[in-house]
Amino acid sequence: TGLNAAIRSKGKKYFGFCSDSNLINNGDNQAILKAEAGQLTGENSMKWESIQPNQGSYSWSGADTLVNFALNNNMIVRGHTFVWHQQIPQWLKNINNKQTLTSAIQSHIAAVAGRYKGKIYAWDVANEVFEDNGSRRSSVFSNVFNDWTFLDVAFNAAKAADPDAKLCLNDYNLDYSSSKLTNFVQLVKDLKSRNVPIDCVGTQSHLVVGNGAIPSYKSTLDSLATTNTEVQITELDIRTSSSPSQQQMNQQVTDYKTVATACMRTSSCSGITIWGVSDRDSWVPGVFNGEGYALLWDNNYRKKSAYQGFLDGI
Ligand code: XIL
Repeated sequence: TGLNAAIRSKGKKYFGFCSDSNLINNGDNQAILKAEAGQLTGENSMKWESIQPNQGSYSWSGADTLVNFALNNNMIVRGHTFVWHQQIPQWLKNINNKQTLTSAIQSHIAAVAGRYKGKIYAWDVANEVFEDNGSRRSSVFSNVFNDWTFLDVAFNAAKAADPDAKLCLNDYNLDYSSSKLTNFVQLVKDLKSRNVPIDCVGTQSHLVVGNGAIPSYKSTLDSLATTNTEVQITELDIRTSSSPSQQQMNQQVTDYKTVATACMRTSSCSGITIWGVSDRDSWVPGVFNGEGYALLWDNNYRKKSAYQGFLDGI
């Protein structure tokens, strides 16, 4: 039903949201998930610090809740995420040699991807590995390896643990032409040329109402499509002032429509995930001072005009 039915009727694979147990168990929010979503991503429950906070001890309840709810309600799951510089435990950050880090990556991915084998549509095997200037981002992974081969380790481990899941490289600020976008595309091509199993690219798409990136968003999807992998819009939101003007609200309707249409017109774009349901629960106000109003439902779980804009774009 809802947005998922609409996008599927036009040949795409899914529409969905991020969620986790607290919002799954919130009645208003749950009703919207059931009516609109064909896909869920764990907002936090599958991150390394959530699942393996202490080395060798795994905590599954949040991720299990998400996966079980999704599968029981006919939704597919995007797994998020393994190799990332954020929301990782201190014990992992302390590792300073390649052999120990390789086995930590391999055992984490074997455990997590193995537990959910056959239940995950796509894994964000690595997240945000570029700085905004297009250079390799500093992290425990890049610092210890001092090259890109931590990605080879991670993608190969995920392939071994769940051969049918699509394996993605995910990042943000890929929304306009830049050296970050160019280098991201080149990295995916390089990984493929050395037979690293990568199937998809994720463009987070944390956008800003009225931003110049939005009218040319289709051309960035086209750039991502040159990797010959599936393109997924993984964390869409379009933020503005937390108390927007009428003009900003209207612009948001247009911008949601533009993004939806860009995916519809890109054959390799397979689906769209919006990073939350209600503005009340969005991550935006906590991170971007004075900004908010980024999603399709308002603080009281009522549909905003942007919902219709997005639907019109499908
Ligand atoms: C965010 C969550 O929404 C917040 O609840 C959490 O406090 C921080 O992380 N890019 C990502 C997501 O890949 O995992 C982030 O999610 C948002 C930015």
